[in-house]
Amino acid sequence: MTSRRSRLIEEMGLGPVWVLRDNAVSPLPDAPGGVHGETADAGAGKAETRPMTRNAAAQPRAAAPTARAMPERGTGDSRAPSRPIAPELPSLASQERDGQIARMDWTALKAAVSGCASCGLATTRTQTVFGGGDELADWMLVGEAPGSEEDMRGEPFVGQAGKLLDNMLFAIDLVRDKNVYIANVLKCRPPGNRNPMPDEVARCSPHLARQVALVQPKLILAMGRFAAQALLGTDASIAGLRGKLHQYQGVSVIVTYHPDYLLRNLPDKAKAWEDLVFARRTMASLKAAVESVGEKPAA
Ligand code: URA
Repeated sequence: MTSRRSRLIEEMGLGPVWVLRDNAVSPLPDAPGGVHGETADAGAGKAETRPMTRNAAAQPRAAAPTARAMPERGTGDSRAPSRPIAPELPSLASQERDGQIARMDWTALKAAVSGCASCGLATTRTQTVFGGGDELADWMLVGEAPGSEEDMRGEPFVGQAGKLLDNMLFAIDLVRDKNVYIANVLKCRPPGNRNPMPDEVARCSPHLARQVALVQPKLILAMGRFAAQALLGTDASIAGLRGKLHQYQGVSVIVTYHPDYLLRNLPDKAKAWEDLVFARRTMASLKAAVESVGEKPAA
């Protein structure tokens, strides 16, 4: 094992659960087996942090930016085509609606999402998938949109990608429903798992914006190009967005691959692991910065 790899494994606290097989080491377990200790290769992470306090995200902010490009569902790489779409000016009615959503508490927001008929997805969904987890979590994960299993069960990431996601979370000491909040950009399944449309993102983004404002996470992990582009209002590729610290509503954002993409591109799990190392290190810096702000000056 190279010293670089051992450093990363040590940083992830993964040493005891990793086993060697066929001269390779797995940064993340495969979803179907779902067991730590399976095999693949690993790389290194970089840190670049900017401190923020929880209060910085306390107030609802301006409506979320509308995605300017709609990548393929579940893609995480720079090979997916980018289709820039000119942003439309919101009507007065939609500004009013967005303003109302930005003032909602959890109860009102959940009710608004479950009764939402703002776009055509309301007619094709089985049910909305609001998101869930620790509503005061430091970590927030943002995916794209529910798939068929999520649409059936009303919960985010419950299919194969969800199993991989759980294992990724486990690798950085996060447990669904315990210390992380998971949401999607869209709350309804696009039929046939087609790409979300720009108007669907525009109608749904205020819900996600309010979830972020209510959770006040220290760090958002945007999973996949679609989530990253919707949050950051960019059409940049995953390759261009990974390894940097971005901001959404004053909250730090790190971009990584979508679990669906990783299931189809196993070698890129090493890069996802780098992203997790980077995210974990960034979270430590953010917490340290908050603690040092809270410290009393020496007498
Ligand atoms: N993919 C997503 O982006 N979100 C889900 O909830 C499930 C699959």
